[in-house]
Amino acid sequence: MEFRIAPGGSMQGEARVPGDKSISHRSVMLGALAEGTTRVSGFLEGEDALATVAAFRAMGVNIEGPSRGALTIHGVGLQGLQAPADPLDMGNSGTSMRLLAGILAGQQFASELVGDVSLMARPMQRVITPLTRMGAVIDAADGGRPPLRIAGGNSLRGVHYDLPMASAQVKSAVLLAGLFADGHSSVTEPAPTRDHTERMLRGFGYEVSRNNGVIGLRGGGSLRGCDIDVPADISSAAFFLVAASIAPGSELLLMHVGVNPTRTGVINILALMGADLELHNEREIGGEPVADILVRHAPLKGIEIPRELVPLAIDEFPALFIAAACAEGRTVLRGAEELRVKESDRIASMAEGLTTLGIHNEVLDDGLIIEGGTLGGGTVRTFHDHRIAMAFAVAALRANEEIRVLDCDHVATSFPGFDSLARGLGLSVTVRDDEG
Ligand code: S3P
Repeated sequence: MEFRIAPGGSMQGEARVPGDKSISHRSVMLGALAEGTTRVSGFLEGEDALATVAAFRAMGVNIEGPSRGALTIHGVGLQGLQAPADPLDMGNSGTSMRLLAGILAGQQFASELVGDVSLMARPMQRVITPLTRMGAVIDAADGGRPPLRIAGGNSLRGVHYDLPMASAQVKSAVLLAGLFADGHSSVTEPAPTRDHTERMLRGFGYEVSRNNGVIGLRGGGSLRGCDIDVPADISSAAFFLVAASIAPGSELLLMHVGVNPTRTGVINILALMGADLELHNEREIGGEPVADILVRHAPLKGIEIPRELVPLAIDEFPALFIAAACAEGRTVLRGAEELRVKESDRIASMAEGLTTLGIHNEVLDDGLIIEGGTLGGGTVRTFHDHRIAMAFAVAALRANEEIRVLDCDHVATSFPGFDSLARGLGLSVTVRDDEG
């Protein structure tokens, strides 16, 4: 499937983008491990979150839905998962695989985690190392890649782990394994990362401590089922924040967006570039901050992106690189080597597409330098990465010829319905199958 986007246009109207992917995954995991029923609304019905649902169903958890974002999970308690009959297929979802590794490390049964071509090439040593220290036995392919074969019946002990990289997935894997461990498990992170696991555990009545940057919990407690209202995903909203910022005449209101401070780097970076963004109706829902975001077109300028904002915007760089391409002057990103191990190598993928569209850029080991300029048209590759596809789709608003974006199927992992929502707001995008 490919996108063809006619150049120009502006973005107008109001929209609620689909539910937050990180929170959707966690709602299923904690709901399954809880005692009692968990009712989720606003659940992301994207392929990644559905892979997590399928995995827990395969381990004997009764999950109703999702239907129009509603999911009901009948929790089995911390000791209630059953051995899956087959390897658990996590599709394209790194979050599912890494967080599940933490949960599975503490089970009595053995399990195996596999995924699609992209996921099978992603690094898993980052979770294997701390989980092994806790007593897990995990076998992986060369270089710490999937499949992960996790032995059953090993008792885990709480450890303290200093995360070598700013990764919420690794932090979460340790905390989730910590639920099954003897004693106290804790982590420190080199920079704050998204804290949805900690917030949601507390929402399920599980105590999580945070003292001087040490995040920890004690094993052996229990989770109480609860209701979860998943906010709209700021990572999906980001494409429209950029779209409206770069397209003259735009004004968009994005409703009910999660604005957890560990996720709002994209807002801060766009504001530094001169974007016109307003947060309205700020509120807290189920322990997560939410707001409506009003964004209007504004001339952007290139900036040096502050390093401390990098982990807080880690999934938004494909969109932000398009903002940088439309900005006046140079934008410099450093300290973002994690981008190289996402669904694709996002530094290389974005650099290639920007070059195709006539935007000068210089690739760094840990970032990208982009000279703002005039976007031409052309055909760009996505490397089967959902966020690369959506970033180049919105770039067409400022291009002077059609942009053709190849291999867009993976958009459904995080943003089902992206093309129709974007079309309704003013993007001239059509979808064709690759032969079309
Ligand atoms: C996620 C954490 C981030 C992010 C990913 C979702 C999560 O990954 O890129 O899309 O839900 O914990 P890292 O923890 O690897 O940075």
